[in-house]
Amino acid sequence: MLVVCNYKIKNMTLITSNINEAKELLDNEDVVAIPTETVYGLAGNIFSEKALKKIYALKSRPSYNPLIVHIKSISDLHLVACEIPDKALKLADAFWPGPLTLILKKQPTISDIVTAGKQTVAVRVPNHPIALELLKKLDYPVAAPSANPFTSISPTTAQHVFEFFNSELKLILDGGSCIKGVESTIVGFLDNEVILYRHGSTSIEAIEKVIGKVKIFINDDVAPDAPGMLKKHYSPKTPIIRTDSIEESIKLHSNKKIGLLLFNTENTDLNIECQEILSKDSDLEEAASNLFAALHRLDKCKLELIIAEKFPNKGQGKTINDRLSRATK
Ligand code: TXA
Ligand code: MG
Repeated sequence: MLVVCNYKIKNMTLITSNINEAKELLDNEDVVAIPTETVYGLAGNIFSEKALKKIYALKSRPSYNPLIVHIKSISDLHLVACEIPDKALKLADAFWPGPLTLILKKQPTISDIVTAGKQTVAVRVPNHPIALELLKKLDYPVAAPSANPFTSISPTTAQHVFEFFNSELKLILDGGSCIKGVESTIVGFLDNEVILYRHGSTSIEAIEKVIGKVKIFINDDVAPDAPGMLKKHYSPKTPIIRTDSIEESIKLHSNKKIGLLLFNTENTDLNIECQEILSKDSDLEEAASNLFAALHRLDKCKLELIIAEKFPNKGQGKTINDRLSRATK
C-alpha cells in the first residue's frame, strides 16, 4: 500500500477525499464509491447508460432491482419526479438532507435502467458534507445503490468498499465511517396513504410525527414491489442465526467455533472466539450505527456460526431486527 497525503492507492484503486477527482470520473461516465451518512454508495450519472450498466454489473444486481437517485437539494426534486403528493413534500422538508428515501412518480426523462422499468423513482438528499459538495459540483443527479455485491453486508467505511471491489473500482471517495450505519428508510405513497417499504435510519415514530399513520408494506417475495425488502439480504458469508436466548444457543452449538453479536452486555463464556457489543449504553441509534461494521469484523473471524441477539423492537431496534432477520434467512 502506498500512502500519499490523503491519497491511498491500493492496487489500482484510489481512496481519496479529493472531490474533483471523483467528479472527473463521473463526468466521464465512470462509477465511483461515495460516502453518505447511512452507507457507502456506488455512484454514476443517472443520464449515462454506460455508468448505470456498470453499477448493475459491479453489484451483480438483478436488472429488476431499481437504483436510488441522490439529488443535492429539494429544489432538484422536479428533475427526477412529478405529481409529488403533499405528504411527500412535508416529509422532504422535515427530513432532507437525511436518511429518508421517497418513492415518487418518475419524470419521463428518467430511464428504465434507473427504475428497472417501473413508473416510480426512489430519491433522497444525503446528509454527508462530502456527498453534498460533490452533488453541488455535478450537472446531474447520481444513482447510488449501496456499495456492496447483491445480498452481502452493506459497507460503512471506504475499506469495506475496497474489500468488496478491489481494482474493479477506480476511486473510493473517503468520508470516514458512516454516522448512521444503516440504510435510509424508504416510503411510498398510495391513495393518500404513506407506505413503509424499508425500515431504516429514520424511525417510523419520527415519520408519523410529521404525517400521521404509516402503513407497513408486507412483501410477498415473489414479485416484490420493493426489491429492497427481499427476504435474504445483508448477509455475512459465515452462517448466522438469531435467538431469544444466547446461553441456550451457545449450548446447542457448543461443538462449533462461535461468534456473538450482542446489544449491550459482554458474554463471559470462555469458548466464545469473537463477540461484538453494539452499544454498552443500550443506545439503539449507536447500536444501529455499529451493526454492519460489527458484522464485517465477525465475518473475518473464521467462525462456523454467528449468533445474534434479538434487539428491543422500537426505534432503531426495529431496523436492526429487520436487517438481522434478512441476514439470517
Ligand atoms: O441509505 C441508502 O438508501 C443507501 C445510500 C447509499 O443512499 N442506498 C441504498 O441503496 O441503500 P440500495 O440500492 O441498496 O437500496 C435502495 C432500495 C433497493 O432495494 C431498491 O429495490 C429500492 O430501494 N428501490 C429503488 N427504486 C425503487 C422504486 N422505484 N420502487 C421501489 N423500490 C425501489
Ligand atoms: Mg443495498
